Amino acid sequence: MSKKISVLFVCLGNICRSPMAEAVFREMVRQKDMAELIEVDSAGTADWHTGKPPHEGTQQILKQYKIPFEGIQARQVKAQDLETYDYIIAMDTANERDLHQLEVQAPGKVIKLLDLVPEIGAADVPDPYYTGNFEEVYDMVTGACRVLLADIRTQL
Ligand code: 4NP
Repeated sequence: MSKKISVLFVCLGNICRSPMAEAVFREMVRQKDMAELIEVDSAGTADWHTGKPPHEGTQQILKQYKIPFEGIQARQVKAQDLETYDYIIAMDTANERDLHQLEVQAPGKVIKLLDLVPEIGAADVPDPYYTGNFEEVYDMVTGACRVLLADIRTQL
């Protein structure tokens, strides 16, 4: 059997945006019966929240939409992730820049989430840690994850 396609979502703290994207995308993958084919994780460029579950606001929105998130724990991204994962998806321009600083030999793997949905007309997923708007993030993440899954399916 061929290797799984692997996707890593990355934000700053790994407690708000990227764990939301991880949970949303994993649930989409599960609903399409593709859990055996696609592996999903998330990480933060900072190590501040290592070991913590998602932020209360992310938990609330995931509960509202009945998306499981049990077991998700913050961790810091490491240089090896850039080699291991097939898709590395940054939530904003600062995350992308920080990832490029880690990047050893993985040119072209890092994209920004909202590059997948140019019709939204935004470059960065706003950080709900500061804005408090988790619903807005959920909408962006959901739209972009649908496109990502469709893209990946064309390659399987
Ligand atoms: P995230 O949001 O990058 O979407 O997880 C943040 C979480 C924590 C902090 C900043 C942003 N912080 O400063 O602790």
